Amino acid sequence: MFTISDTTITPHKLQKPDLHRKNSFTSLKHHLPRTWLIFFVFFLQILLLLLARSFQIPTGISTRQNLPESPPITTVHGGDTKCSAGKIFVYDLPKYFNTELLENCHELNPWGSRCDTYSNNGLGPIATNLAGVIPNSLAGAWFWTDQFASEIIYHNRMLNYKCRTLDPESATAYYIPFYAGLAVGKYLWSENYTADDRDRHCHMMLKWVHDQPYWQKSDGWDHFVTMGRITWDFRRSNNQSWGSKCIYLPGMRNITRLLIERNSWDYFDVGVPYPTGFHPNSPSDVATWQEFVRARARTTLFCFAGATRGLIRNDFRGLLLDQCYKSSGSCRVVDCGGSKCSNGSSLILESFLGSDFCLQPRGDSFTRRSIFDCMIAGSIPVFFWNRTAYSQYEWFLPGQPESYSVFIDKNEILNGKSIKGVLEKFNEEEVRNMREKVIEYIPRIVYAKPHEGLEGMKDAFDVAVEGVLNRIKDQEQEGFKW
Ligand SMILES: *[C@@H]1O[C@H](CO)[C@@H](O)[C@H](O)[C@H]1NC(C)=O
Ligand SMILES: *[C@@H]1O[C@H](CO)[C@@H](O)[C@H](O)[C@H]1NC(C)=O
Ligand SMILES: *[C@@H]1O[C@H](CO)[C@@H](O)[C@H](O)[C@H]1NC(C)=O
Ligand SMILES: *[C@@H]1O[C@H](CO)[C@@H](O)[C@H](O)[C@H]1NC(C)=O
Ligand SMILES: *[C@@H]1O[C@H](CO)[C@@H](O)[C@H](O)[C@H]1NC(C)=O
Repeated sequence: MFTISDTTITPHKLQKPDLHRKNSFTSLKHHLPRTWLIFFVFFLQILLLLLARSFQIPTGISTRQNLPESPPITTVHGGDTKCSAGKIFVYDLPKYFNTELLENCHELNPWGSRCDTYSNNGLGPIATNLAGVIPNSLAGAWFWTDQFASEIIYHNRMLNYKCRTLDPESATAYYIPFYAGLAVGKYLWSENYTADDRDRHCHMMLKWVHDQPYWQKSDGWDHFVTMGRITWDFRRSNNQSWGSKCIYLPGMRNITRLLIERNSWDYFDVGVPYPTGFHPNSPSDVATWQEFVRARARTTLFCFAGATRGLIRNDFRGLLLDQCYKSSGSCRVVDCGGSKCSNGSSLILESFLGSDFCLQPRGDSFTRRSIFDCMIAGSIPVFFWNRTAYSQYEWFLPGQPESYSVFIDKNEILNGKSIKGVLEKFNEEEVRNMREKVIEYIPRIVYAKPHEGLEGMKDAFDVAVEGVLNRIKDQEQEGFKW
């Protein structure tokens, strides 16, 4: 659950078996010379947005049998809910694209089985080692969840969603339950595989979906999918680089993608919270936890949890670490080098629970799961890049960044600005107010355990899906689509 995945990785090198690491974002570099193009496209999108929507298919999910992780049998709630934003039809995708990947969990990566990782319907093993750290009554609500499990979590929730419809004709949106991340994860690490291997599932999925009668309804603008890795893992620009080119495939255009990290310039990418370890069973679990983190005695001003990478020169995290060590007494460091934080340790959670603020630098990509681990623990995040959260998770986080977080421009840190100095300036009341805002938003950034969601409380899944439905409505405006 508290994995820190910001270690550098060199794509195509097999010898880095940190299974939890996010891949580096090599393709970003290739894009820098094209910055002008990106800005142009962005500008064009804004223009089009200012000027100026639709959707569909058949059957319910069929898989399931022996597999421990397969989605549960669907129960569609009756017409008792209003579903004013519309209903969702879930494609009955061949199991090759989802549950079969899970059934073959022992071969999802070259270093060992992922069956345990994705057990409990994707939530992973119960986090028994947090006993004594979390309230006893929440022992069943904390899991050792993999940060890339969102595809499985969303699929299970979608099958039981109150606004799911089995009648494709009546749907506003069409969900494609493709496990895009699991499909590519298997082929990322080995030189034995080719670019074609990494793209195969996505190609076939698109062909299947485009053959469905409901694609034409609106050229796919009413279709959406969850992709459980960062967007850059699906944006390979040539055969030699990292990842699949799923998002770049022409057939992918118009499909909304729910990703743990989005490309801020791509309208079709929507950032959704990383799955964390907390999966409440009920609204009262949420309230118990909120009260617990609110009452917590926080003995250090700030903390930094991450792989130290041996303090590589020019590494921004090295600077943060330096500052943290020098502010001893005020700052707590959790060194997550190797897999120290990913093997069941409660150290990170304890560190967030004991600190007013937590430092959230970018890693190889802009975001990290740690943002959500931190906020769930009621600690106030400190960001250094706007793309780490503000332009990623707009549906889930407060609109006013300063109401729940602190922003220190990375250049100020490079120029020697003291983080401790900045954070010490906030008085008790200001800290309390920011923390209260963080705590208020906890429900929106967690994924509930029950497949039906939480009664009377919206979690990250509900917010994401309602957001998609509302977007589809907005797209109906004349001239919106391009
Ligand atoms: C790659 O292929 C070689 C030869 O078939 C095999 O010995 C090796 O184990 C494979 N590596 C991986 C990571 O599958
Ligand atoms: C990339 O791989 C595809 C399929 O193997 C091949 O057709 C294409 O020519 C390759 N492109 C480059 C630039 O190597
Ligand atoms: C995406 O939408 C545009 C505008 O509606 C349409 O012209 C285009 O054909 C669509 N692309 C695909 C792959 O369906
Ligand atoms: C997990 O990490 C702790 C602390 O480094 C270590 O004592 C323990 O043996 C590790 N457990 C496993 C299963 O690797
Ligand atoms: C980043 O966000 C901060 C806080 O919202 C804002 O003051 C600043 O102008 C932003 N910087 C850029 C480059 O957008």
